[in-house]
Amino acid sequence: GKVVVLYGGDSAEREVSLNSGAAVLSALQGAGVDAIGFDPAKAPITDLLAMKVERAFIALHGRGGEDGTMQGALEVLGIKYTGSRVLGSALAMDKVRCKQIWHDLGLSTAPYRVVDSADYGDVDCAQVLAELGGVAMVKPACEGSSVGMAKVTNADELDKALALAFKYDQQVLVEQWITGAEYTVAILDQQPLPSIRMQTPNTFYDYQAKYQSNTTQYFCPSGLNAEEESEIAKLALSAYQAASVSGWGRVDIMRDSNGRFYLLEVNTSPGMTEKSLVPMAAKQAGMSFAELSVKILAGAH
Ligand code: DAL
Ligand code: MG
Repeated sequence: GKVVVLYGGDSAEREVSLNSGAAVLSALQGAGVDAIGFDPAKAPITDLLAMKVERAFIALHGRGGEDGTMQGALEVLGIKYTGSRVLGSALAMDKVRCKQIWHDLGLSTAPYRVVDSADYGDVDCAQVLAELGGVAMVKPACEGSSVGMAKVTNADELDKALALAFKYDQQVLVEQWITGAEYTVAILDQQPLPSIRMQTPNTFYDYQAKYQSNTTQYFCPSGLNAEEESEIAKLALSAYQAASVSGWGRVDIMRDSNGRFYLLEVNTSPGMTEKSLVPMAAKQAGMSFAELSVKILAGAH
């Protein structure tokens, strides 16, 4: 039956998704799959019915594509789709809800505060920052690709960072800054793939470091020893399962200078450009981009 690759969309990560979708579409077509591309920002999703589409590969990122809404629409249309169901998609999109669940389950994640836009005027920025050890990351609860994020080291910066983050979401996460290295673990069919370590000269692994920079370095194998690799894989899988994520996904994790891991977030529709992280981990595990794309598609249900 016919396959559609959903890409583009109207989230802040549209450009990334156009690249992911183009790469997946060409890989699937090259593998002999009867696939076409479809941009939900350009045509109503109900058009898929007349196109007799049987399965959808979701290569959308962020709101409207990765947050459960598109998944719900596809459920209603009776079209099978890749990745997480409605609940896992919605939970994973919300960094605050995810952290609450992980925290309750005793999974390691950095201390944080949540600020709602309605309370913005009453926030004592100096106190929030002091409670978090003086340095923090500020993140809109529901965004991707580091959009709207900033590192802050004083009350004034926190105030400005909150204003920026509120442009993207009503709810903002202020998370203790972890000094150390950032890792990511891709998971495919409940199996963690080899971890990757990202290294950037930027303040953090931001949008520029992710997509525009040629100074970002990727290490896969990541340099962890076997025991540490098994620890990060176990943490990633627990975080993934706790958030009801399924099919495939990618868990981002910090490691501090004492070697302790802290969960950052889980992505249910991770980047799939030729340079993206999940394909890099798959390659290390002996799987080509095309094989990976076909395998993710095979998980559609
Ligand atoms: N949100 C981007 C696409 C990622 O996690 O890869
Ligand atoms: Mg994300």
